[in-house]
Amino acid sequence: MQGYSGAAIPAWYTRNLVDAGNGAFNIMILCWGPGHASPIHDHADSHCFMKLLSGSLEEVRYEWPQDVDSKIKKALKNKQSGCQRETCQTDSCQSQSVTVADICDRTEKIGAQCEQDGDQEYSINNMVEIGKTTLKLDDVCYINDALGLHRMQNGHIDEAVSLHLYCPPFNSCQIFDSLSGKPTEVPVTFWSKYGTKVDKKVRAQAPITDSQ
Ligand code: SIN
Repeated sequence: MQGYSGAAIPAWYTRNLVDAGNGAFNIMILCWGPGHASPIHDHADSHCFMKLLSGSLEEVRYEWPQDVDSKIKKALKNKQSGCQRETCQTDSCQSQSVTVADICDRTEKIGAQCEQDGDQEYSINNMVEIGKTTLKLDDVCYINDALGLHRMQNGHIDEAVSLHLYCPPFNSCQIFDSLSGKPTEVPVTFWSKYGTKVDKKVRAQAPITDSQ
């Protein structure tokens, strides 16, 4: 993959907005140089679909940290009741029930944790890895906050390109310290929009953004 055509490789992977879906979704192309990785992040209550267009990426999934902001867990817990209704009331749920039930199950656990958690100190080794998947050409993956957190990484010498659909779109998300799990709210920005590079001055400098 010759994505950067001999130009200097940016320090971070680049996020390139292709379509904003009249405010309903964002479709983006992400370009990953060798060694590029996203921070561990949530998905701001959005659905995230991605497909590998070129190269290969590893997805590493994590549980929400024990002492994460309880507001998030409460929000997830509230979603659980709606989720159960959806599972039980329609026949069409039969075909989806495994997925929906799985999400409900995870959400229930997160909600239960929420009730037990107080304001705790962040401690080392608070991020628990729950899975690692290698995505190759044309592979598709999906994540939302009920399924956990993740990071993507390009551990290869070749560049990689991925297609992302975020629905609904979001302007900020939380990133998590990989040891302590401490969350930080960061803006998400674009390296380019509709094929035109975004002026560096209007891009916030944040780990889930582009630095050049
Ligand atoms: C990802 O790791 O899923 C991509 C993160 C991003 O949207 O920048």
